[in-house]
Amino acid sequence: MSTLPNTPTTNVRRLFVTTALPYANGPFHIGHIMEYIQADIWVRFQRMQGHEVDFVGADDAHGAPIMLAAEKAGKTPEAFVAGIAAGRKQYLDGFHIAFDNWHSTHSPENVELSQDIYRKLDKAGLIYKKPVEQFYDPVKGMFLADRYIKGECSKCHAKDQYGDACEVCSSVYQPTDLINPFSTLSGAKPELKTSDHYFFRLSDPRCTDFLNEWMANNRLQSQVANKAREWLDGKDDKALGDWDISRDAPYFGIDIPDAPGKYFYVWLDAPIGYLASLKNYCAKRGVDFEALLADPATEQVHFIGKDIIYFHTLFWPAMLKFAGKPYKVPDNVYVHGFITVSGEKMSKSRGTGISPLRYLDIGMNPEWLRYYIAAKLNANVEDVDFNPDDFLARVNSDLIGKYINIASRCAGFIAKRFDGQLLSHEDSNEAGNACIAETQAAATSIAELFEAREFGKALREIMSLADKANVFVDTNKPWEIAKTGQAIDLHRVCTDAIQIFRLLTLYLKPVLPALATRVEQFLNIGPLCWSDAGTLLPAGHRINDYKHLMTRVDAKQLDALFDIDKEPVKVTASTPHPATPAKSGVPVQSSPPHQPSPAIAGEGMISIDDFGKIDLRIAKIVKAEHVEGADKLLKLTLDVGALGTRQVFAGIKSAYDPATLEGRLTVMVANLAPRKMKFGLSEGMVLAASGDVPGLFLLSPDAGAQPGMKVK
Ligand code: MSP
Ligand code: ZN
Repeated sequence: MSTLPNTPTTNVRRLFVTTALPYANGPFHIGHIMEYIQADIWVRFQRMQGHEVDFVGADDAHGAPIMLAAEKAGKTPEAFVAGIAAGRKQYLDGFHIAFDNWHSTHSPENVELSQDIYRKLDKAGLIYKKPVEQFYDPVKGMFLADRYIKGECSKCHAKDQYGDACEVCSSVYQPTDLINPFSTLSGAKPELKTSDHYFFRLSDPRCTDFLNEWMANNRLQSQVANKAREWLDGKDDKALGDWDISRDAPYFGIDIPDAPGKYFYVWLDAPIGYLASLKNYCAKRGVDFEALLADPATEQVHFIGKDIIYFHTLFWPAMLKFAGKPYKVPDNVYVHGFITVSGEKMSKSRGTGISPLRYLDIGMNPEWLRYYIAAKLNANVEDVDFNPDDFLARVNSDLIGKYINIASRCAGFIAKRFDGQLLSHEDSNEAGNACIAETQAAATSIAELFEAREFGKALREIMSLADKANVFVDTNKPWEIAKTGQAIDLHRVCTDAIQIFRLLTLYLKPVLPALATRVEQFLNIGPLCWSDAGTLLPAGHRINDYKHLMTRVDAKQLDALFDIDKEPVKVTASTPHPATPAKSGVPVQSSPPHQPSPAIAGEGMISIDDFGKIDLRIAKIVKAEHVEGADKLLKLTLDVGALGTRQVFAGIKSAYDPATLEGRLTVMVANLAPRKMKFGLSEGMVLAASGDVPGLFLLSPDAGAQPGMKVK
């Protein structure tokens, strides 16, 4: 084995970068992709600086939920997680996320490392064993985590509540407090049973002293440090407790040495999976893993989301610290917020969220998403909202309208009039020089922003340079010089614009790697790295013909992304906007007779049975609101009596002020299949009339009708 990948020169950093290991119980969702995009941009930036980076990920394969999911799927856990792993590549390649290695916590490396770390912690006197009494499912033959126990809340007597807290009255309790508890796995009445558990002595003063010191040196984001401090400084029943690190068989996990039938709790071996993936990658390259890890120059950086701070700022550093050599404590844990969609939390049941695969399948450019997410990211733990209109605006007006525009307006002249060759920079005039110099000078501040993960600020700075370049082009009007002016002036302006375009491409390259590669081909240059900002293309340099670099986002693609029915709706439909819950009005008018009754069936006729399928109800509009970013829609909250409350998006904004709608009654189609829309889920349709004359007229029942009444 060779030793290290390279002998570091003084200012070359060696970085070991990870993202959180996703549970191997499902495909990636947009939250994962957002995290990977953030880390990938940072990693690409570091590489452009000439630093060495090992960027690794892995599947988090262990734990009871995955074991049970596999069982449900009729597979062994190994086969189940292998199936999930096989699906990862298309996402990672699809969004240009360049992990050096993707591995699994269910791997020989992870077994070896987890057991090694455990043994070292044990040797350090930080592990002990203690009997724990816990609910046990006698039918399933397994101990039950709180989430697998339900019963009646002992406070408010709500039925069907989980073992840790009541969703009705919000009280928090132990599963043993539930009345008539049952196992959600078998329905059996759980029994209390005692077994030995292994604990990591996190409350040991050595651990707390170390964590205090680790946190004191300012490496964490302030929001993260505050959270971690809260846990660390907690008193009495809030004090940092010891950590239960074992689970009893049956469990899908790693054996605890010398403890038959005991497995590491998934959160013990999960972060060790970072090291397992690195080790696996080292072996592939013939690099000495231990030497790499133990080298004080190696920086270990973890990108994670805000929900797993606890594990990464308390347990993980303490485990590594007291396991000793070759392990090292993390140099940084970079925490991001969550991605929301149009202000709503992602949730499968609510039908919002963005499917990353659908995004790719419908042909949307992955670099639009990289750009958009980068534009919204900063170094704080703030949530990032994906707003479709904002997405369209930023990509089309900034990325294409500002940046791409520079090349598309100037490159053609260089090709057609100057045989693809650039003019000497010496020939630039004052304005061109100033613009180029300013763009070059920004290299340092933009680099600082990327380093600090202030991607939004970096892109703003880059776009403001693009604005200036466009002003330069607009002022000089190459298209007019081409008609009436001197060739040298045309050559000068277009060369300067291309020089600036190259610099902007360099700055955007961490975010838009594939686009940058196309630009490098177009400019006929090698891969750009950060130090290239100090240089310009030489006189006589020949660029290639300009080919269109990037298309604009089409609003229809966003509609398709959110699975919106594209057929415009006529008739009684609540809206003429395509973005309606829309197959809608259709049954009434245009669906062909289902089973034509012989007597009257004809073109456009339906039977009474067909009509009976439509569940029309009186609905009371309890709330009517504007929808941010929607021109035509109002969001209505409807009270439908016994059917409960419904949320409906109706295309009636042009005709109604929401305030005047609240409290009034109307008619809705209550059994329309819910539609996922850009702005949320629409659970029905309200009826309105429209015709050749302008206006839109919501139906109203006569006085006395009550919410929920059937309309027949
Ligand atoms: N398996 C654990 C992590 C173990 S790390 C040693 C886990 N997996 S996860 O699949 O639930 O989450 C993986 C990462 O995705 C986490 O960093 C989490 O914060 C992040 N995200 C999950 N939902 C997210 C959003 N909606 N938005 C952004 N990131 C989100 O936790
Ligand atoms: Zn309750």
